[in-house]
Amino acid sequence: MTRLLDCQEVTKSFGGVPVLKGISLELHPGTVTALAGENGAGKSTLMKIATGQLRADTGTVTIGEHTLSAGDPRDAVRHGVVIVPQELASIDDMTVYENMFVGREKRRGILLDRRAMIKEAAEALAVFDVSISPTARMGSLPVGLRQIIEIVKAARTGAQVVMLDEPTSAISEREVEGLYKVMKQLRDRGVAMVYTTHKMAEIRAIADRVVVLRDGKLITDESLADITDDEIVTAMIGRELEHLFPAVGKDTGDVVLEVENLLVAGASEPVNLTVRRGEIVGLAGLVGAGRTELLEALFGMRSVISGTIKVDGKLITKGRPAAAITAGMAMVPEDRKVNGVVLSMSVLDNGSLPRLASFSIAGWLRNKSRSTAVAGAMESVRLRSRGLSQSVGTLSGGNQQKVVLARWLTGTVNVLLLDEPTRGVDVGARSEIYRIITEFASRGMAVVMASSDMPEIVGLSHRAFVMREGAFVGELDRQALDHPEVQDSVFRLATALDSRSETPAAEQRPSLEEAQQ
Ligand SMILES: Nc1ncnc2c1ncn2[C@@H]1O[C@H](COP(=O)(O)OP(=O)(O)OP(=O)(O)O)[C@@H](O)[C@H]1O
Ligand SMILES: [Mg+2]
Repeated sequence: MTRLLDCQEVTKSFGGVPVLKGISLELHPGTVTALAGENGAGKSTLMKIATGQLRADTGTVTIGEHTLSAGDPRDAVRHGVVIVPQELASIDDMTVYENMFVGREKRRGILLDRRAMIKEAAEALAVFDVSISPTARMGSLPVGLRQIIEIVKAARTGAQVVMLDEPTSAISEREVEGLYKVMKQLRDRGVAMVYTTHKMAEIRAIADRVVVLRDGKLITDESLADITDDEIVTAMIGRELEHLFPAVGKDTGDVVLEVENLLVAGASEPVNLTVRRGEIVGLAGLVGAGRTELLEALFGMRSVISGTIKVDGKLITKGRPAAAITAGMAMVPEDRKVNGVVLSMSVLDNGSLPRLASFSIAGWLRNKSRSTAVAGAMESVRLRSRGLSQSVGTLSGGNQQKVVLARWLTGTVNVLLLDEPTRGVDVGARSEIYRIITEFASRGMAVVMASSDMPEIVGLSHRAFVMREGAFVGELDRQALDHPEVQDSVFRLATALDSRSETPAAEQRPSLEEAQQ
């Protein structure tokens, strides 16, 4: 079989620590290879080396007959190899179409041909069945949609090899379907794809081969027909995973969070919600359904039109995160790069950010107690770092997420707000995070968790609400969550799909751009 891309004995170290220990991988036309492995296993590093973003220490990457000049992404692109990176590089101040054509602008004479670019962008986006206006500002879109745009952009360059580094971690089922559609089209055209995901169902749904990395070594390289899910998980984490979800706690206490008639700007209706101590409430819905906006409003990061928020019976001043934190609210945001962590800062500094005041006396940081508290918190999520001084930007994606979650563990929390808490987190670490969330709840916290991962909503929640256009359109109690067809009913509620009609309600949906306003 012809090879499109061939990595031979690739090694890479960072600061003397080996991250890839001799990886060889060949890619053939018209195939989809799932690249699996724990957070920090070396998946992104391998993809970056194969696409010229990073220079290998030893080993070679060949594209057809051409040996890639190490560390030269343009050389890779010229030879038809592109990457959609895990941490997006889109330019938020530009529009969707400008992002899609950046560096390859269409011109008429010396002038930019905006009309042609907008038209072409609209056509390319239509394939994904997501209504995004090409003239929307990139920064106004949720991260899931920005990711889709990056994929469409890569697909359009005529690449022969496309590397997708966790393209689905932030998007919901509906957008995943659109992504698969395009991946299948690319595969039929002979494109070779490598795809990282932490979700087993996705590996099965789209890939024909799975390659597992563990601690920088290639552990498994199999056709998917020849390997079971359990075998893949075991190869990834080096042990068998017993239960992904801990048992849902039985005891719930007094009401701690009371939300009355809270109307968030852009929502179609106000929201009412009470959550008890020990209770985990899930928020399901499509990308753009208003889950993030609601959580942000609760945490004072977004202004609201009317309504009240009470914690432990006390009214919270709206629109002020500091007031929310004082009342014992904690927030783990969806886009960790924007609202979560400061990538250039160390684990220690990030870990103490939310509670800096409690670690200081008269303006002086109490370094001992600070590092003890942060070290304890990071240990409890089994953070993989080279110590508290490592900058968060150099941690693997999943480990960055653990820092965002763990930093609240240094003090008391009454209400924990989670937005896609396991986005990009590997199965092993995910089961740890689920354990931590359940533990948080059983210690008397009220948890509100937005997630696009249905198994996560079903596995953890006492109750769940389905959101659409910023409003609750359905509530599922534990019994409903256990129903085998829960996924279907959630989807119907989330899309306003009439139960009698067979066609998806795409036309009735407001455009996602409108929903964002
Ligand atoms: N620029 C860097 N400087 C120092 N260490 C780095 C750098 N980039 C990556 N690493 C380290 O290399 C290891 C592999 O990271 P990589 O991002 O390849 O993991 P991954 O398999 O993609 O993980 P994830 O599933 O979390 O995305 C990690 O331990 C990470 O901390
Ligand atoms: Mg990665």
